[in-house]
Amino acid sequence: MSHVVKKRKLDKTRQDRLYFDSYSDVTIHEEMIADHVRTSTYRTAILRNSESIRGKVVLDVGAGTGVLSVFCAQAGAKKVYAVEACSIAEQAAKIVRHNKLEDRIEVIRGTVETAELPEKVEVIVSEWMGYALLHESMLNSVLYARDKWLKPGGLILPSKAELFIAPVSDPVLEDRLHFWYTVKEQYGVDMSCMSDFARRCLMNSDITVNAVTVEDVLSHPARFAELDLYAVTAEELRSVGGHFRCESFGSAAVNAFCVYFTVTFPCPDKPQAQALVLSTSPFKAETHWKQAVLYLDAPVDVVQDTPVTGTVRMYPSKESARHICIHVDYTIGEQKRQSKTFSIPDWSSDSHLLFPRTRLECRFVSTNLKRKKGGKKTGFSPVVSTCVWLSEAGSSPPFPGSGGDERVASSSTSRGTGEFRVRQGRVTNHPIATQDEGHD
Ligand SMILES: C[S@@+](CC[C@H](N)C(=O)[O-])C[C@H]1O[C@@H](n2cnc3c(N)ncnc32)[C@H](O)[C@@H]1O
Repeated sequence: MSHVVKKRKLDKTRQDRLYFDSYSDVTIHEEMIADHVRTSTYRTAILRNSESIRGKVVLDVGAGTGVLSVFCAQAGAKKVYAVEACSIAEQAAKIVRHNKLEDRIEVIRGTVETAELPEKVEVIVSEWMGYALLHESMLNSVLYARDKWLKPGGLILPSKAELFIAPVSDPVLEDRLHFWYTVKEQYGVDMSCMSDFARRCLMNSDITVNAVTVEDVLSHPARFAELDLYAVTAEELRSVGGHFRCESFGSAAVNAFCVYFTVTFPCPDKPQAQALVLSTSPFKAETHWKQAVLYLDAPVDVVQDTPVTGTVRMYPSKESARHICIHVDYTIGEQKRQSKTFSIPDWSSDSHLLFPRTRLECRFVSTNLKRKKGGKKTGFSPVVSTCVWLSEAGSSPPFPGSGGDERVASSSTSRGTGEFRVRQGRVTNHPIATQDEGHD
């Protein structure tokens, strides 16, 4: 099956249509609201700022289901304009009525760039962050709203964003690279010559969204960029980045960099140091953003205190302004300087364009549970095949009868499909085979 991925430049209207369509389904909103770290941090931030919100006019940029607008009304806002471009606005309006807030929350269906509000606002609230912070490029819309609708001295929630980077190891990747050396022992065929090919395939230039385990982070993360939402301009968002320097905790192989972000909410009653932070750090509770993993071309060994230095630059891709690219120039220890540019994988068909946060996910389902007599499951067989498919809104496993006994782990890979092993209930990602489903 051919799998030629051609990058097509999409015109802006089409990009926006695809982008807003991706927010029209329930799954993405369910995932966002179920992300307790995200939603509860916003709720706490809004309630803690109730002094600044009470009796004031608020603009919720990209209101979705209207959850943040409702929090603002609960914090005492006199009026909330909940602006939402996609059809989820109808559900937001329903939720507003259901909560008897229609006198204070007005849902406006349309883009914030075209919406006409009857008045300026004192507060802007928005949840605009994409993978690696800037994927989706929604921050531009918040800045547009700030410049057009926020009164001087108004409040923006959140008000600051920061980006961090750290070198990481990836034991699953190491196992997958090593796998080709084990085939001879199993089947009498020496496939070790596949290892270079495997490395090129796996350590590619996709931005992989995955939850990095704390033990795999090889140094204190370094901050490389900060955005002040009161001051940053759309022009500055065309290139965001900075320098970083880390020192390795100990001996390990660096396989990748992990990039993550925090956003900060002001807390009027607390000193700056105690501001409320929504963090997507691997050292904090997992969020649906997980971390952006950027694989090097090949593993590099480090020992304790090996310096890892470089610069990161993030910018919108040429093909679609809503897709982020990350360029990293780096030096590890004595190695000469390397550079690599990463982008969100482009499966380039309308239905698989990776705007919505959920669609980067793959789902792993074991198909081969051990069973006792009488049908009660006893656990996983030591190695069982699993089936992986792209998680689309409402998609179901591509084989019958798997519903009740699924063992589903959520992750994302750069390839999207393939077969994996599950050992004692854990997906270990050893590929048994890689099957190309032609997602382009
Ligand atoms: C990440 S979701 C957040 C939804 C909701 N605020 C929440 O916290 O659950 C972003 C929402 O903003 C909407 N959106 C993005 N850009 C927009 C724009 N320029 N104008 C209006 N809505 C926009 C999207 O359709 C999407 O529903």
